[in-house]
Amino acid sequence: MKKQISRVGIVGAGAMGQGIAQLAAQAGCTVLLLDIRPGIAQSGTTAIAAHWQRMAATGKCTAETASRWQTQLSAADQMPELASCDLVVEAIVERTDAKLALLAELEAIVSPDAVLASNTSSLPITALAARLAHPGRFCGFHFFNPAPRMKVVEVVPGLKTDPRTCDALADLAVRMGHTPVRAQDTPGFIVNHAGRAFGTEALRIVSEGVADFATVDRILRDQVGFRLGPFELMDLTGLDVSHPVMESIYHQFYEEPRFRPSVITAQRLAAGVLGRKSGEGFYRYEQGVAQVPT
Ligand code: NAI
Repeated sequence: MKKQISRVGIVGAGAMGQGIAQLAAQAGCTVLLLDIRPGIAQSGTTAIAAHWQRMAATGKCTAETASRWQTQLSAADQMPELASCDLVVEAIVERTDAKLALLAELEAIVSPDAVLASNTSSLPITALAARLAHPGRFCGFHFFNPAPRMKVVEVVPGLKTDPRTCDALADLAVRMGHTPVRAQDTPGFIVNHAGRAFGTEALRIVSEGVADFATVDRILRDQVGFRLGPFELMDLTGLDVSHPVMESIYHQFYEEPRFRPSVITAQRLAAGVLGRKSGEGFYRYEQGVAQVPT
């Protein structure tokens, strides 16, 4: 296994893939970003480059640094371009079948000592590794949204993960300026397990008519000190991600009633009311500003 990761592939150029790609380039790695949808990896790298230009313009980095990072990052068109990566992180849709298929495809092309990692929020790492020929190389590497600003990364070994795989990922997290936290492969790991207490309970408060969602958000922000209330967080995450996460954690806890997902989010997901990414969630977004629908 490689001692230090220097060439990183990211599969899935959505919110999380872009954030992780940005961090990996800033950590000094060469980064390739790939997405199944044509043009998305390219628009992702353009968006990251624009962000670096803004950082340089506001004195957060030098112009030389911004252009060096830019030369380290590129969009890939095909999976085989990732063959020489020391690490490939998947940040695709939160579905076991899709992740298993992708990991099998990746393992067939990368070198025997390359690390494979998943940014999954809720799927069991041990199960994702089950079909790999070398499960020791696979680990959870769970960032939070937005990845560049949220400084904790959960490093989640599965049952067969080699401790050196965890060490290599923890080392990279530190080089990214983040704090790696070892979590066990249990439903929701640490953060999304603890988060049930706020997300699912907030939905219950609203469905029981105790308070409306904007009040719950305001109280948790202003009185409890949260940066975002639970409904603002669901809008940021996207219900296409957070509702499946709620379902997955509920089922993994053998239908434990306190983790039961809400029909509120199921219905909104069915209607495509996903959050910021669809322009409307619990709040309506006009030029990125949240409005409470009237
Ligand atoms: P997203 O929907 O913004 O992006 C996912 C991207 O993956 C899309 O661009 C899609 O085209 C691409 N994709 C789907 N299947 C693919 C495949 N087979 N091969 C290549 N690309 C494929 O999703 P987001 O929010 O970035 O989430 C990605 C992963 O990160 C999920 O596993 C999610 O649970 C996890 N995550 C999400 C967080 C959030 O707050 N949104 C926080 C932490 C983890």
